[in-house]
Amino acid sequence: MSDAAAAAAKPSLPTIGSRAPSIDAASTHGPLSLDAYEGKWVILFSHPYDFTPVCSTEFLGFARRAAEFEERQAQLVGLSIDSVFSHISWVRTLEAQHGVKIPFPVIADLDRKVASAYGMVHPSENDMAPVRALFFIDPKRIVRACIYYPMTCGRNIDEVLRLLDALRSVDANAGTACPADWRPGDEIILPPPKTAAEAERRVAENRDNPGAKDWFFVKRKP
Ligand code: BEZ
Repeated sequence: MSDAAAAAAKPSLPTIGSRAPSIDAASTHGPLSLDAYEGKWVILFSHPYDFTPVCSTEFLGFARRAAEFEERQAQLVGLSIDSVFSHISWVRTLEAQHGVKIPFPVIADLDRKVASAYGMVHPSENDMAPVRALFFIDPKRIVRACIYYPMTCGRNIDEVLRLLDALRSVDANAGTACPADWRPGDEIILPPPKTAAEAERRVAENRDNPGAKDWFFVKRKP
């Protein structure tokens, strides 16, 4: 692909903090719209093709931990450009061969409407099928995080749950952040002060806090 063609084919990617593009699509659970999940988180994830091995491991992984997403009021929604019939056949095969039922809907994005709205097709990787894109859409329909993996590498379900927990923690504790490798129960971290006066106040307020290492580095219990 020439540089000009590549530039023209660049997908438009939803950005963190923007409103999630609306969805009106066919799925294995019938017509699917984001409105159906009002008040819930939506974890929308694309896979390249049905009946492929890495995608199968991802589907089995998400299905095995579906209850953990449910506990967090999060709805998993899969997507590829295969038909509903192909999806039905694939999830039935996974259940028959692995004993795992796929409980979440899978969008059949044959016209690639959803895939293009969410920038899931990356022509430099593959100009037909979506890459492994995943969006965390919050209950107010704001895109809060996006992860993109290449076709050749499966995602880490544990990390998807960890990031969901981190986003929920940040929402529950306004003005805080989560450090690297944070897990529920760990200390949260305070974003850096924006002014010299704030820095001084931060130091004064945290004299007895062993998690406060410097004016810009303060950890504490949520
Ligand atoms: C897979 O799911 O195994 C796969 C799909 C597309 C490209 C490479 C691997």
